[in-house]
Amino acid sequence: MNFLAIRMKKPLNMPIYSGASPEKVMSDLKPLVEFQNHGISLEALQHLIEERLIPHLIQYDRPEFQSLFNFFPEHGAEFGGKIALKYNQGVTNWQVSPGAVMMEELCCRALCELFNLSPNSDATFMYCGTYSNQSALYLALHWSAEQRGFDFAKKGVQGFKDPSRLVAVTSQEAHFSLKHALRIMGLGEQSLVTLPVDTEFKIDIKTMQEYLSELHDKKDIFCVVATAGTTSTGSVDPILPIAEICNEYGIWLHVDGAYGLAYFLVPEWKHLFVGLELADSITWDPHKQFGVPIPNSLLFLRRKEDFDRMAMYGDYWNRKGDPEPNPGLKSPPSTRPFSALPLITSIRHLGLQKLIQNLRTPLSAVETVYENLMNNPEIELCHKPDLGILCIRVTPEGFPEKHLDQLQKYVYDRTKTEGKRSISLTKIQNKTVLRLVIINELITPSTIMETIKYIKALAKEYHY
Ligand SMILES: Cc1ncc(COP(=O)(O)O)c(C=O)c1O
Repeated sequence: MNFLAIRMKKPLNMPIYSGASPEKVMSDLKPLVEFQNHGISLEALQHLIEERLIPHLIQYDRPEFQSLFNFFPEHGAEFGGKIALKYNQGVTNWQVSPGAVMMEELCCRALCELFNLSPNSDATFMYCGTYSNQSALYLALHWSAEQRGFDFAKKGVQGFKDPSRLVAVTSQEAHFSLKHALRIMGLGEQSLVTLPVDTEFKIDIKTMQEYLSELHDKKDIFCVVATAGTTSTGSVDPILPIAEICNEYGIWLHVDGAYGLAYFLVPEWKHLFVGLELADSITWDPHKQFGVPIPNSLLFLRRKEDFDRMAMYGDYWNRKGDPEPNPGLKSPPSTRPFSALPLITSIRHLGLQKLIQNLRTPLSAVETVYENLMNNPEIELCHKPDLGILCIRVTPEGFPEKHLDQLQKYVYDRTKTEGKRSISLTKIQNKTVLRLVIINELITPSTIMETIKYIKALAKEYHY
């Protein structure tokens, strides 16, 4: 069955998704899970899928999709993805696929070079940014235990004199996956200290210094997490001064670049990432704006030997002293998809020049729209965009301030049910805001302005 063909059958004037209610989606999909004794032909399956599932899938490749980090596979990525799917290679161990293992190892090294990381750095593929962040916090804690003279892998948090003193420090705008990581590590969310941010939703260095000098005697800070592209506003924390402070205190620095790191590659935006090479660990999700099949995420480490703290040896698999590379020693799963291949084929197919241009286009479009909207009384700009995310509030003339949150929610709900355009909703500084995420190179300033026009028209229909 050719999934690309199914996708292409959808006429361009159709909504980008059905906008149907959960009840309608459920009733459409139910026949698909009526498991029967006898199989059905692929043609019959294709018909069922086309009729019942596809209308409820979102067409990420359409310029009206301006809400989240998803992307249809780029052609080169789709090519590599199909090969990875057909051969279904595991990549954690030499025995399971010498070719896939070596391809992944080479890709990790090439990516370290592409991001100008130290010659001693290394990386591993991961399922998603959440797990990359989790592994980074685990490695940071492990490293901190080693400074105190014990092996964290053996003793766990009980090795620390007082585990309740352990904290990781980040900003209020950091992704919630950090809380997940602390839950899973048994430290609990209470061990995450979140710093207030400045007017551009970034870590304020003076505030950070004050917090750290205050916390220093009371707590054991095992990690600082800077975000390179926050989820709500795309803000990039000032990495270099944060790295300098971490160095002064001897704290592990993790940079969560799940969304933002890709833009390091665009020369005009590179200055936002100064100091990146000083981070002890970095998360990046090519499955966000790179147009590679999900899952595709990476964890980079400044010193490749730090991956040794992750290693788990087996008798049948990943044996200690195996002469061949076993990438599974760098992360927990024993089975992972061959995510490196679609990333490699996509980069090779596009070439760096086109790839960088594709990344630049949405950033420039957002910059232009921000400037266009600066004197628009009906749109409140909530921040100056660093990357391709713009948070706004629609503020019709004379509309009471106290109902503005409900108005944003109303507009968002209407876009959800109409299915013509896709935008997202979030909260920043306790205000409900509309969020435009622009990652598609087909989106121009005028396609974003059409969304603004649409938002304004919907807002006029709201009665408080
Ligand atoms: C900054 C940031 N970190 C981590 C994540 C989690 O990544 P994933 O969805 O791949 O688990 C996200 C997801 O949006 C994110 O924006």
